[in-house]
Amino acid sequence: MSDIFEPKRIIVTGGCGFIGSNFVHHVVREHPDVHVTVLDKLTYAGSPENIAGLPSDRVELVVGDICDAELLEKIVPGVDAIVHYAAESHNDNSIADPEPFLRTNVEGTYQLLEACRRHDVRYHHVSTDEVYGDLALDDPARFTEDTPYHPSSPYSSTKAASDMLVRAWHRTYGLRVTISNCSNNYGPYQHVEKFIPRQITNLIDGVRPKLYGDGRNVRDWIHTEDHSSAVWAILTKGRMGETYLIGADGERDNLTVLREILKAFGRPEDDFDWVRDRPGHDRRYAIDSSKLRRELGWEPKHTDFATGLADTIAWYRENEAWWRPAKAATEARYRAQGQ
Ligand code: NAD
Ligand code: DAU
Repeated sequence: MSDIFEPKRIIVTGGCGFIGSNFVHHVVREHPDVHVTVLDKLTYAGSPENIAGLPSDRVELVVGDICDAELLEKIVPGVDAIVHYAAESHNDNSIADPEPFLRTNVEGTYQLLEACRRHDVRYHHVSTDEVYGDLALDDPARFTEDTPYHPSSPYSSTKAASDMLVRAWHRTYGLRVTISNCSNNYGPYQHVEKFIPRQITNLIDGVRPKLYGDGRNVRDWIHTEDHSSAVWAILTKGRMGETYLIGADGERDNLTVLREILKAFGRPEDDFDWVRDRPGHDRRYAIDSSKLRRELGWEPKHTDFATGLADTIAWYRENEAWWRPAKAATEARYRAQGQ
């Protein structure tokens, strides 16, 4: 294991989005000597409410674009690390309009890497298991750090491109980098466009949930809190230039997840609508996270999916004011796509 890196000032890009804001909460709670500057453009997916109430001497919000090199020149000098979460993150949106994905996910990563290179700043890149493409339902294999890249969607191909830039900046310029590729997260503050929050909020509204295709697509669910602890472990203990896969052995098909949500609402198990499938829909993701566990001693703590889901449902019930403003427009967009 490498020496422990102890950052005191970090920039978290996308810290007003789902996973980034959960990471900011995690750092404030678990690492009291660390100051966080959140850099976030506040797109439709970002809200300052996600980090509201955190101590102002520990967390500062800079509203801006990761593609803005001049802004990066103002905020990057003097920080110890950048943890890069900001992205256009939703597959369905990338199919409807790929352009913002190219800009934010590829050009944005490039600008951050260049800023880190100019100021010798440690960089951690948050990526996705989708860069590996998909697995067949009956394939015993899981993704490892050695699985070849084979992305399917505009979203995942831009994430794959950004991973490649990070690797090149390490090899060519010696930039101190690590990459993590995580599976599907769930938990509080996830946008209502995503599968689990969409179905929970539909049921709160008395609307039938919507399932794509045949419902047998498998995702490998991890609680976002476990993603945060893994990213911190990699940031502080990871070996330079290395990739670590993050997962918590949470494989479930979409129909099973939906039935668990229906059950929690006391609704019959077939009380949902089949809708048009996603073009190019990846069949199955599955993560082998043994490198992370073996090398860095990380273990997930929130592996009881039933409890995590019940807590998540409770959060959406209690925080209707948070998700309500985005709900109607999100559903209108899905309706227009036949989903
Ligand atoms: P999200 O869409 O909820 O949040 C993205 C955040 O980035 C928002 O706050 C948004 O305002 C900000 N942002 C977007 N473009 C920006 C720009 N140009 N400049 C500055 N800020 C910008 O996304 P998420 O689900 O929290 O995902 C965060 C990261 O984790 C992404 O890099 C994603 O690829 C990765 N990831 C997500 C999952 C998942 O299950 N959601 C799993 C693995 C990896
Ligand atoms: O695997 C990591 C990825 O997980 C991240 O990189 C992405 O940023 C994140 O959005 C997520 O991608 P998915 O495409 O897997 O997540 P999504 O929530 O969009 O869909 C999960 C599954 O549910 C997928 O098989 C599609 C299906 N689905 C989705 C919606 C919104 C439905 O059946 N019905 C729906 O209404």
